[in-house]
Amino acid sequence: MSYRGTIGKLLEDRWGKLAEIRGVEVGVNEGVTSAYLLERFPLLRLDMIDTFSAVNPDYEATSDPLASRSRQEKYEAMVRASKLTSFAHRRRDIFVRQSPEAAEFYPDLFYDFVFVDANHELGAVLKDSWAWWPKVKPGGLLIWHDYGNDQGDWTRGVKMAVDRFVSEVGRTVDHSDDYVAWCSRAEAEVA
Ligand SMILES: C[S@@+](CC[C@H](N)C(=O)[O-])C[C@H]1O[C@@H](n2cnc3c(N)ncnc32)[C@H](O)[C@@H]1O
Repeated sequence: MSYRGTIGKLLEDRWGKLAEIRGVEVGVNEGVTSAYLLERFPLLRLDMIDTFSAVNPDYEATSDPLASRSRQEKYEAMVRASKLTSFAHRRRDIFVRQSPEAAEFYPDLFYDFVFVDANHELGAVLKDSWAWWPKVKPGGLLIWHDYGNDQGDWTRGVKMAVDRFVSEVGRTVDHSDDYVAWCSRAEAEVA
């Protein structure tokens, strides 16, 4: 199963296929995961956040191979994300904005899940996690990708950041063989 399938199964096991799930994907690239989830969950409403071709020096300084693409290639990723998810255009919003600042535009304790998959550097994952955790509703999930995935310097920060984050919020992390990690907000917990 791909990591997309793992995330889909995680959501389906928790809420079923026909639930009115609200989600956010932080770091969208070409929208393949967004499209997969929008197709698998016909009532999902998804906010898709990415800087795409906007200036993002912190990301450009990383060794993530996607970060060194040209502005034109990053712009084309946005066009592709828009086209790939156009079948669900009433259920998705694409927001070109830098995380974690983008989180300020979204309501607290509202989302069933937030999938953090943007800048993988330790500091960036920590900041994204702290910014998006308050947006997750009680019983909801914060999900990360590339947890424990050793693809080089650019992925190593994810596990360290996630482990540190979950310990600081007093939660535990679960993870799969395909490097998906998740942490759930307690039912009674507030932001
Ligand atoms: C690994 S890709 C996302 C892959 C996508 N989640 C998927 O599963 O197909 C990382 C994306 O994060 C975006 N990104 C990097 N830093 C960001 C930031 N601070 N805010 C928003 N998006 C960011 C990049 O533009 C890139 O498209």
